[in-house]
Amino acid sequence: MKIDHIGIAVRSLSETLRFYQEALGLNASGFEDIADQGVRVAMLPVGESRIELLEPLRADSPVEKFMAKRGEGIHHIAIQVGDLEAALERLKTAGVRLIDSSPRQGAHGSRIAFIHPSSTHGVLLELVEHVK
Ligand code: CO
Repeated sequence: MKIDHIGIAVRSLSETLRFYQEALGLNASGFEDIADQGVRVAMLPVGESRIELLEPLRADSPVEKFMAKRGEGIHHIAIQVGDLEAALERLKTAGVRLIDSSPRQGAHGSRIAFIHPSSTHGVLLELVEHVK
């Protein structure tokens, strides 16, 4: 397992990229709209992990609701797993509260599932399986 990415909720991707690209010197790649979550995503590789910037595209996006309450900032941490179904089964057996009880479509052909913060001591955790 490793940290796949850290998701950060932002008001404007273009504004935010001015900091991450121009001031910090990271390169953004992988712009993608995720209709399911109502967000536009930019990925910034940092070593073997990435920063995922999330800009909401509509008012009912979970990221928009998050920012209405808490403002911009870290939204979730994503952990890469080899077998998402097996990881979810293990969590269910352990009585963990899941947002997604089965995998859904993530960015770039990945499969993802979110774990509820009430079971993780306050952090929204995303599990990611990269489909080869
Ligand atoms: Co993510």
